Amino acid sequence: MLMSLALSTTVTVLLCLLGFRKCSGASAWTLKGKIVSGEHWLDDEGGIIQAHGGSMLFHNQTYFWYGENKDAPTEWRSWKMPDQEWWYTRTPALGISCYSSSDLLNWHNEGMALKADGSHEDLEAGQTLERPRVLYNNLTQQFVMWVHVDDAGYSLCRLGMAVSAAPTGPFRYQGSMQANDQRNGDFTLFKEDNGTAYVVTASQKQSMDPRFMLLHELSIDFQRVLPNPFRILPPLDRESPVLFKYEAHYFLLTSGSTFWSPNAAEIFTARALEGPYASWGNPCHGEPMDQHGITFSSQASFAIPLQAPGAPGHFLIMADRWQSNDLKESTYVWLPLHISLRVQKPLQLVSKSGEAANDDNEDPGQDEAVRLTAVRRIALEWRSAWDPHSGLNLPGTSLKYREGRSRVHRLPVAFVARYGSYIHGPEPPDAGLNKG
Ligand code: DGJ
Repeated sequence: MLMSLALSTTVTVLLCLLGFRKCSGASAWTLKGKIVSGEHWLDDEGGIIQAHGGSMLFHNQTYFWYGENKDAPTEWRSWKMPDQEWWYTRTPALGISCYSSSDLLNWHNEGMALKADGSHEDLEAGQTLERPRVLYNNLTQQFVMWVHVDDAGYSLCRLGMAVSAAPTGPFRYQGSMQANDQRNGDFTLFKEDNGTAYVVTASQKQSMDPRFMLLHELSIDFQRVLPNPFRILPPLDRESPVLFKYEAHYFLLTSGSTFWSPNAAEIFTARALEGPYASWGNPCHGEPMDQHGITFSSQASFAIPLQAPGAPGHFLIMADRWQSNDLKESTYVWLPLHISLRVQKPLQLVSKSGEAANDDNEDPGQDEAVRLTAVRRIALEWRSAWDPHSGLNLPGTSLKYREGRSRVHRLPVAFVARYGSYIHGPEPPDAGLNKG
C-alpha cells in the first residue's frame, strides 16, 4: 500500500516536472523555464491556458496574451451542398481570455477580457469568436480589441470591436461589420512605427471563393475601418495573416485554408506596407524535415519581436496545434523565426515606398535615411523546448547556421499570366478597392 502510494506520488511529480499534468500552484512550463512545443501550458495557478488563435500586446513592460477560450464541448456540423456535405468542428464561443506575463514564460490568468454573455447578438453562446487582437491607442488611452465574429455556420464573416480602459478588460462590445463590404475570416492588426494602425483581412466576395488579403487602414482612434483597402495578395486562398516589420521590410506569414488541419506556411515580403508582396515560400527549417509541409503540425497566429542580446532579426511566432476532434485540447507551438538581411548600400536616402531616392524626387520630404538592405534568408526553426531570452542558438553556439538564400518561390507561368504578379492581383470584384 505504502509502496504504491510512494510510486504514484513519484509518478505524479515526474509527470508534473515533465509538464504532462496539471500541478496546482506551479506551472509545469515554469518548472522547465522553457517554451515547450505542443504540450498543455499551465498558468501560475495550475489551470490549462485557454488562449487559442492568440495574439500579444506588450504594454508597460508586460505581455498580455489574448486568445479564444475553447473550454467547451466540440460540436460537429455540416454544410449541405446540392451534391455533397462538408463536415467541420467548432466550439461555441465562451469569450476571449487574457493572460499576463513579464517574461513570456510565467502566465497569470487575468480572466475573460470579453465574455460571450449574451449582451449583444454577436456575444450569444452559440456564436463564434476567433483570433482577438488588441492595440493601445495613445490618443484615446483606450485598448481596442478586434475579433472575428461569426455564427455556428461561419456565414456572417464579420469583424467585431470592443474597447476597454485596462488591458485586461472588461472590454465593452461596440458591434460588428464586414470590413469594406467583404466577407472576412481570419485577420490581424498591425501598428506602423508612425502610430497608424491597419487591419489585414483574409476576405472573399462569396463563401466558396478563394480568399484574397486586404489591408485596411483604421481611423485615428482605431475603432473604424477606413474605405479603399489595398489588395495585398490575390485570391491565393491564404488564411491567418501574421504581419510584422523588421528594419524597412514587411513580412506577411500565412497559412493555407484547410479548416483546423495543418498545412504549409507561406511567407511574403515587401518593402512597403501596401506591397507589392513577393513570396519566399515555406520558411520552415530544421528537423523534423517531414513536418515542414505542415508547419510543424501548427498554424501561425502572431509574431512578437525578440530582444535577445546580440540576436537581431529574431521573432517569436505564436502558433496553434489544433485538435479538431476536441478543440479545447489544442496546444501551442511557439517557435523562433530568424530573418537575415544583406546590406545593399550602407546608408542611403529612400522614399517611403522603399525606392532609392533620386535627385529629381518630387517629394524629398518623404525621404528617410535608412540602410538599404535586401532579405537574404527567413527561417522558422523547429524547437521542442527553448528559452526565448537566451536559447536562440545563434551562429557560433550550438546550432550551425548556414547563411544563404532561402528558396524564393517562383510563380507558375500560368499564374503570372493570370494575375500579373503578386501586385494587388486582378481587378477586384467590386469598386472601391485601392489598387495602389
Ligand atoms: C481556419 C482558421 O484559421 C481558424 O481560425 C478557424 O476559423 C478554422 N479555420 C475553422 O475551421
